[in-house]
Amino acid sequence: MNETTASAPRAARPRITAEHIGLGAIRRVIQDFYARVRRDPLLGPRFAAVVEDWPAHEAKLTHFWWVSLGGPAYAPYRYRVVDAHALIAVRGEEIRHWLALFADCLHAHLPADLAAQWLARAQAMGRSLSLIAGQEPC
Ligand code: HEM
Repeated sequence: MNETTASAPRAARPRITAEHIGLGAIRRVIQDFYARVRRDPLLGPRFAAVVEDWPAHEAKLTHFWWVSLGGPAYAPYRYRVVDAHALIAVRGEEIRHWLALFADCLHAHLPADLAAQWLARAQAMGRSLSLIAGQEPC
């Protein structure tokens, strides 16, 4: 552990990830990811059944990840992640597939270390969603 790490307040550390990646890159990842989702045979129909306004969905999810990675909120979105996925009864297989698609997309846009940090967040959410849905943890 170096001196900077040792003295940084724990809550301040995640912000480094959001700022290192940058809002523009997060937006590009999200737009590309949902373009891949729309073309995906397993996930495409699941999203098509719910999402009517893709630009609005992407803007909301860009903000979600920016904040989840430690950036300061810049819009008054409210999230109900558990409810949103409970409503459509996501399955463990779908969550694993979502994560694999997301990993490919992150690695296509970001250096390996930043992709790995963001992916770790998504995997933790995937585990929570799986457990809440009563599916095998992924
Ligand atoms: C680790 C895996 C996943 C993560 C981190 C994730 C994350 C999110 C987040 C943050 C939202 C916004 C929720 C809100 O508006 O409050 C969302 C919405 C949504 N997710 Fe996921 N998701 C995952 C997997 C999946 C899977 C596997 C599916 C489909 C089978 C799915 C379908 C949807 C849909 C349809 C919405 C839009 C809900 C709406 O606007 O009402 N997600 N997701």
